[in-house]
Amino acid sequence: MKVLVLGGDGFCGWPCAVNLADAGHDVVVVDNLSRRKIDIDLEVESLTPITSISERLRAWEQVGGKAMRFVHLDIAHEYDRLLELLRSERPDSVVHFAEQRAAPYSMKSSATKRYTVDNNVNGTHNLLAAIVESGLDVHIVHLGTMGVYGYGSHRGATIPEGYLTVEVPQADGSRFTEKILHPTDPGSVYHMTKTLDQLLFFYYNKNDAIRVTDLHQGIVWGTNTALTDRDPRLTNRFDYDGDYGTVLNRFLMQAAIGYPLTVHGTGGQTRAFIHIRDSVRCVQLAMENPPTSGEKVKIFNQMTESHQVGELAQKVADLTGAEIRYQANPRKEAIENDLIVDNRCFIELGLKPTTLDDGLLAEVVDVARRWADRCDRSRIPCLSAWTTRQAEALRTHA
Ligand SMILES: NC(=O)c1ccc[n+]([C@@H]2O[C@H](COP(=O)([O-])OP(=O)(O)OC[C@H]3O[C@@H](n4cnc5c(N)ncnc54)[C@H](O)[C@@H]3O)[C@@H](O)[C@H]2O)c1
Repeated sequence: MKVLVLGGDGFCGWPCAVNLADAGHDVVVVDNLSRRKIDIDLEVESLTPITSISERLRAWEQVGGKAMRFVHLDIAHEYDRLLELLRSERPDSVVHFAEQRAAPYSMKSSATKRYTVDNNVNGTHNLLAAIVESGLDVHIVHLGTMGVYGYGSHRGATIPEGYLTVEVPQADGSRFTEKILHPTDPGSVYHMTKTLDQLLFFYYNKNDAIRVTDLHQGIVWGTNTALTDRDPRLTNRFDYDGDYGTVLNRFLMQAAIGYPLTVHGTGGQTRAFIHIRDSVRCVQLAMENPPTSGEKVKIFNQMTESHQVGELAQKVADLTGAEIRYQANPRKEAIENDLIVDNRCFIELGLKPTTLDDGLLAEVVDVARRWADRCDRSRIPCLSAWTTRQAEALRTHA
């Protein structure tokens, strides 16, 4: 298949692009390199040293991978070039990773809130409008987030894969049932953009029969896959800073450098997780099993296990002897939440989940230990607060 990987230079996108090329697909990586520019603005770097996109592509060819091409393009602001790219490449699928993906960064300031909304919503909408204008039948595989369902109480209910069956009472006392998009409950401006993406997909699928698979992904942990491990120049990025580092990778890196594990609030927050190797595999499965013409948006919960943040910190502490430090929570969120998730779609397609108990935690600690001298400890604390009240609490507990 011919596939455009939008955001293919990023943490999830790069190993995914390499995996699709290795599987024999004809891959074009499309990225505006904004993630690398944000690192420059924030004065922080990936813990693992990453090479430029040209070096990555050269290295991939040299280790025997099927060549990939690169197009430098901003999908949110270069609509005409995006349309032209679709017309000239005529892809079967577009895998869409190209969004600003950090909740803390999206809450940092009004400038980063506006950037996140502008970039994410326009990017997704431009892609949909361009596919309609091109007249091509392209399957979109989009990376959404489990966060669209919200992290409040679900009262023990299992979160279905996107759609909820509800009973609607009528004035005459009768009831009818309907399948609706699961109500959204975004917990940050970033998550809000993902809920807006869902509506855009719903609309363009209904109006123009665009085929979409929306992957509601959990928090990704781990660094490399067997393919990006083939050569140091293929190494994937590892974010550890307070804005872009995700919780489990942060704990693993903190343990590796002897920094106390930073648990926000009580640690009672429950989140869904997936290893980068499984994330890559899921994208391939989704791409190779597209919805049929006229089918409604397919929604998969792309996660393999859920854990409470405090319980995760304990697991990492048991493995490494690290100390745990409870800190004021920069987020406005429930102190505790439940998260029971249906993820049958990928299991039925053949996914064999990599779990935290598979020994990979130790592998990630090794990656972090290897590059520990590249860590700037001053960038570890999470300083982007959700509200002025949270900002005040952070200052008081600093
Ligand atoms: N990393 C996670 O834990 C996680 C969890 C759930 C969902 N996701 C989703 O997966 C996707 C990829 O996440 P990631 O961790 O790889 O993020 P990332 O920031 O590492 O990668 C995103 C890539 O998209 C590019 N990009 C952003 N805006 C663009 C634009 N307008 N035009 C072209 N390129 C653009 C960036 O330069 C970057 O290379 C995101 O949509 C994110 O919401 C990630």
